[in-house]
Amino acid sequence: MRTVDLIRRKRDGEELSSEEISFLIDNYTSGAIPDYQMAAFLMATYGSSMKDQEVDSLTERMVASGGVIDLSGVPGVKVDKHSTGGVGDKTSLIAAPLAAAAGAIVPMISGRALGHTGGTLDKLESIPGFRTSLTVDEFREQLRMYGLAFMGQSAEVAPADGKLYALRDATATIESLPLIASSIMSKKIAEGIDSLVLDVKVGSGAFVTKQLEARRLAQLMVGIGRRADKRVQALITDMSQPLGYAVGNALEVMEVSQTLQNAGPTDLTRLSLELAARMIFLGRITMTLDDARELAQRKLLDGSGYKKFKEVIQAQGGNAQVLDRFDMLPNATGVREITSPRNGYVSAIDAFSIGMASSMIGAGRDTKDDTVDPAVGVILEVKTGQKVDAGAVLCRLYYTKEDRLEESAEMVEDAFRISTVQPEERELILEVVG
Ligand code: URA
Repeated sequence: MRTVDLIRRKRDGEELSSEEISFLIDNYTSGAIPDYQMAAFLMATYGSSMKDQEVDSLTERMVASGGVIDLSGVPGVKVDKHSTGGVGDKTSLIAAPLAAAAGAIVPMISGRALGHTGGTLDKLESIPGFRTSLTVDEFREQLRMYGLAFMGQSAEVAPADGKLYALRDATATIESLPLIASSIMSKKIAEGIDSLVLDVKVGSGAFVTKQLEARRLAQLMVGIGRRADKRVQALITDMSQPLGYAVGNALEVMEVSQTLQNAGPTDLTRLSLELAARMIFLGRITMTLDDARELAQRKLLDGSGYKKFKEVIQAQGGNAQVLDRFDMLPNATGVREITSPRNGYVSAIDAFSIGMASSMIGAGRDTKDDTVDPAVGVILEVKTGQKVDAGAVLCRLYYTKEDRLEESAEMVEDAFRISTVQPEERELILEVVG
């Protein structure tokens, strides 16, 4: 078998066998296939997609590139939540502690910032001392103690995804349904879960912009999960404007803290509660989804989700005090206000532009080896539908370096549409699949 022939066949829209996909993934993981050939294969897949059978084989092989974490020694149903990626999407850091506080066991393997979207690991690492590189034994022990542990994909867990994820980020091959589905599902299957709640984002700030495509992605992942014997549900949710007000790693941790204390933005609170409720329900803590919703709400109102997050931060070496003392988080050195050019209604806040602008000043990565700047990002002052006067502050851009600041500020400015008519309110949760 020759890699070049497989690239050519995928480029020409042919279906590959599971042996052929195994050949590609195994040899790429071992280093026998170089980045340039895998990049070409990814681009060919981006262009011509894959059949369900191929996506199943790809996922299986990515899982097999490491091991499946054995969580049989941790009592309880293991349930996780994963988002396909968005801007200001910090729901994992809210829904997971709420579900764990309700008794669910949440082994969470998360990703880093990808393209214009943020990553849970980068957000957590903005907390001084927080360690995301746990060993599998530490991960298991922490789950036993606290019911929640966060870690990154590692050499032991779906290492093929680690390499492919970074390569996709650098080769403009992220927005491919089979590649997104196999990337997410391989990590999730490898972490030893029984159940999974997916948040499939749709809109300008997501990797898919049409609801039909989002539905197809949701169905693809639910199908992979079911065939691997997992209970999976997917919500399709709006990502046309950033979720909440904060975009950027430490800025988002501050908003997580406020939300877990029931003082967060309405959209973020609502979606986080719904995701937590579905985790609680699929984690078999309650018999009905309505009971799960009530329980999630209770865990928010009585502060136990907040307490759980603090415990987990401490357990992973982080300074949990930062949740009360925001000055102890990395702080930006400069701030630029973006103001409204006229009176009117905010009719759109383009999530892609906000995410890209934020990434450009350091919240994300240009190349796979870049480090992120935890302090920088954007805080919105308004949301879509709100009335504004000329000169009102629309958002603030927090930065630590001046390079690319002007370009970023322009992009943020262009993200806002101010019109004379009030826009119709958009649904946040658009569909449930599974
Ligand atoms: N999240 C992932 O883990 N992988 C993707 O490809 C996109 C979002």
